[in-house]
Amino acid sequence: MADFPTANWHSMPHDGIAIVIGATGGIGTAFTAHLKASRHFAEILQYARKTTPELDFTKPATVAACADHAKQQAQQSGRDIRLIIDATGYLHDETFQPEKSLRQIDPDYMAKQFQINAIGPALLMKYFCPLLPRLGKSVFATLSAKVGSIGDNRMGGWYGYRAAKAALNQLVKCTAIEIGRTKREVVCVALHPGTVDTGLSGPFAKAGLRVQSPAEATANMLSVLDQLSAEHSGGFYSYDATSLPW
Ligand SMILES: NC(=O)c1ccc[n+]([C@@H]2O[C@H](COP(=O)([O-])OP(=O)(O)OC[C@H]3O[C@@H](n4cnc5c(N)ncnc54)[C@H](OP(=O)(O)O)[C@@H]3O)[C@@H](O)[C@H]2O)c1
Repeated sequence: MADFPTANWHSMPHDGIAIVIGATGGIGTAFTAHLKASRHFAEILQYARKTTPELDFTKPATVAACADHAKQQAQQSGRDIRLIIDATGYLHDETFQPEKSLRQIDPDYMAKQFQINAIGPALLMKYFCPLLPRLGKSVFATLSAKVGSIGDNRMGGWYGYRAAKAALNQLVKCTAIEIGRTKREVVCVALHPGTVDTGLSGPFAKAGLRVQSPAEATANMLSVLDQLSAEHSGGFYSYDATSLPW
């Protein structure tokens, strides 16, 4: 466990349930390891395409079924769901690479970008955010990306990924406003993990760019989540706790 030092939670009630979605990914795996090592949460539920129950954005009913599963677990144990981390995401695969130019825009790649980076997380917000408790701090955090910032876009390119993450940021803002009306201590945010050494970023990590290990990036992000409170809900934060422009 040396790579996963105890994440110190100061702000979050003890002994609740934490949920990691996309738990089999590079960053999701490290989040789970940190949360287990911290012993702050009584239970850590993990959902992904290869877990039971499965959670696959190409099968929307699986999202509702996993939220139902989490709700039952919370009811059976009498514990509150305090932390939900969405570490799902998609950049490239065997068929598609991010676009370097307008000429490369492909409707199938664009649709997949929106399905996994925006519509899937919207379904998570729909089904999981209502499970957060009315009282005490609780968090829904989804992994966005700085390249989804329109204000920070200086290089262009990566049309589908950038646009889908910008859409995700808007969905986070809407959810934060709606949930905050009835659950005033909920923190609903988009996080930028930095460049992290995973299969998603590997082919694109440029020389000279600071690359964090998944353990380092998730320790940083958990520390940010610990620092945030309801007044920050609806925001877009980097792993170093700076607020990012939309
Ligand atoms: N790595 C970076 O440098 C970096 C930088 C900025 C932002 N991010 C963001 O951080 C998040 C996590 O990235 P990562 O680097 O950990 O990537 P990763 O290792 O590729 O993990 C991606 C996760 O998304 C899941 N996923 C893919 N398609 C899915 C679907 N149809 N339904 C449900 N889950 C699906 C994967 O499931 P399987 O395990 O089943 O494939 C995996 O758990 C992403 O949102 C990414 O955009 C990463």
